[in-house]
Amino acid sequence: MFYSDDLVEEVRMKNDIVDVISSYVRLQRKGSSYFGLCPFHNEKSPSFSVSPEKQMYYCFGCGAGGNVFTFLMEYEHYSFPEALKFLAERAGVTLPEKEMDEESKRRQTLKSRILELNKEAAKYFYYQLRRESGAIAMNYLKNRALSDETIHRFGLGYSNKYSDDLYRYLKGKGVSDELLVQSGLMNVDEKRGMYDKFWNRVIFPIMDVNGRVIGFGGRVMGDGKPKYLNSPETAVFDKSRSLYGLNFARTARKKNLLVCEGYMDVISMHQAGFTNAVASLGTALTTQHAALLGRYTDEVILTYDSDEAGVRAALRAIPLLREAGVAAKVLSMQPYKDPDEFIKALGAEEFQKRIDSAQNSFLFETDILQRSYDMNDPQSKTAFYEKVAEKLTGFEQELERENYLEAVASRYQVSRDSLRKMVNRMALRGIGTGSLRTASTKPARPEKESGIIKSQKLMLTWLIEYPGLYAQAKEYLVPEDFTGEPYYTVAGLLFAQYEAGEKSPARIINHFEEPEEQSKVAALFHASLAFPGEAEREKAFKETLQRIAGHGLEESRKRLEPTDMAGLQRLLARQKKLREISGQKFQFDDDGNSHRREYS
Ligand code: GTP
Ligand code: MN
Repeated sequence: MFYSDDLVEEVRMKNDIVDVISSYVRLQRKGSSYFGLCPFHNEKSPSFSVSPEKQMYYCFGCGAGGNVFTFLMEYEHYSFPEALKFLAERAGVTLPEKEMDEESKRRQTLKSRILELNKEAAKYFYYQLRRESGAIAMNYLKNRALSDETIHRFGLGYSNKYSDDLYRYLKGKGVSDELLVQSGLMNVDEKRGMYDKFWNRVIFPIMDVNGRVIGFGGRVMGDGKPKYLNSPETAVFDKSRSLYGLNFARTARKKNLLVCEGYMDVISMHQAGFTNAVASLGTALTTQHAALLGRYTDEVILTYDSDEAGVRAALRAIPLLREAGVAAKVLSMQPYKDPDEFIKALGAEEFQKRIDSAQNSFLFETDILQRSYDMNDPQSKTAFYEKVAEKLTGFEQELERENYLEAVASRYQVSRDSLRKMVNRMALRGIGTGSLRTASTKPARPEKESGIIKSQKLMLTWLIEYPGLYAQAKEYLVPEDFTGEPYYTVAGLLFAQYEAGEKSPARIINHFEEPEEQSKVAALFHASLAFPGEAEREKAFKETLQRIAGHGLEESRKRLEPTDMAGLQRLLARQKKLREISGQKFQFDDDGNSHRREYS
């Protein structure tokens, strides 16, 4: 769905950024801005600022910044249309509805009906657990060391021992049989007709990132089989894309996410303070899970069971995560089976130690690999080194490859030089993944900022802080002088705004789609220019102006067609003007400086 710029701007203007952010962050007024603890990184003293005048936020600690849309995209992980929808609703702006075809309308209706029904069922299970007849389930959960608070937080419930209780309850509410089947809450067979899927089990509601109940897990309270039952896939429940606990973990503000196997592991970890734990639900981690994790973190710690199945699961998950740009580490639970048992036996502090010493996934893989080689047999040993060398060719960055090579060499007692020779030989022969792997699978390293780009940034900051400078500066500058993105675009938009007699930094941000770019732009609008005196200030400004215009002229000379006489004339005129700049006096109206205006 495409929304017009004007509509986007209307929604933005009707949602004051201070109001919106205040519902997430406690803000305090300081001068013309508000300050609070940054929700995007951990900090003790507030460096997160929100400017009502600019309608923007910026963190001086971590560089996060943007407008009200950016904030929701970053904080809630909304896409732009989702953020727009949310804010439109909040401000009572009606968005044009896309004409849906019949089929998607029907599907949409089914989805919301199932969600409604799931909510109803979750409430019912919740209530059953707290009745007297639910004591058996409550005791089970208490015996598993869950606190009242945890039981409440995860919305745990109980399906009682009658196999048609929920059915009758929901029928009483007028729900159709068809919907009951589609919701996955009921089974049907010819002999018995329709009956509850879950009975005599403790119930774990499964929520999506927005806290809506999309399915259920049910555990027997003892040794019965099957130990767990899970909702089947429905219109709202796709196991390959759902992670249990993510609704809480996404706001945990930890630097990584812990990925485990089961409901009880997630719950135990959260109860012990590891609120960044999630689990895939009775399925192996999928590509979609990896991509979902990648939206929230760039490091995952695998806390799978310590048995063979857990090791296999980790070996399968590592490459999927790598592909999604997520680094993995593997936590050893030995001698315990899973996080739940570990924490119960040794406590949170010991678990934290295991997190801190979790093993690098590459070394985990090579350790497992080594098990299938006989290191006392020279030939087998050589074959192992060859395998490791082959894996090492997968690192494109020389330094990274060298670091791993070093780690591997000392770990498996082989000389660094001979291992390096092996790796290089293989890379030359095209063996291994190294020669095949494209650069795009590696996260790009940030390019070093050149001096001229720095000057361009600085100039934009000047022009934003002192709008009065624009009239003079435009005699020397054109937007094309800003040669790096996003600065070229910002210059174009800012110049156009000034020509139209307005100034709206928050609007400029809307032209950028990537939060990363938005932060860069926000940084421009929040940089501060401090100079000891007015003479220094003017000198600095002039030099910056000369530098950018000079560089811009140089660039356009290179591009100039030999036959473009008009272009040449313009170029010469600009050059002449620039030579005369030293006699020019620049006026710094302090109009754009909000702090001063505040107190004048
Ligand atoms: P507890 O025994 O309650 O501590 O559970 P656990 O999490 O330690 O169980 P386990 O490691 O056996 O299983 C991990 C996850 O796999 C569970 O949380 C379920 O999602 C799933 N699972 C386990 N057993 C079954 C089963 O019998 N059927 C299905 N469908 N899923 C299961
Ligand atoms: Mn367990």
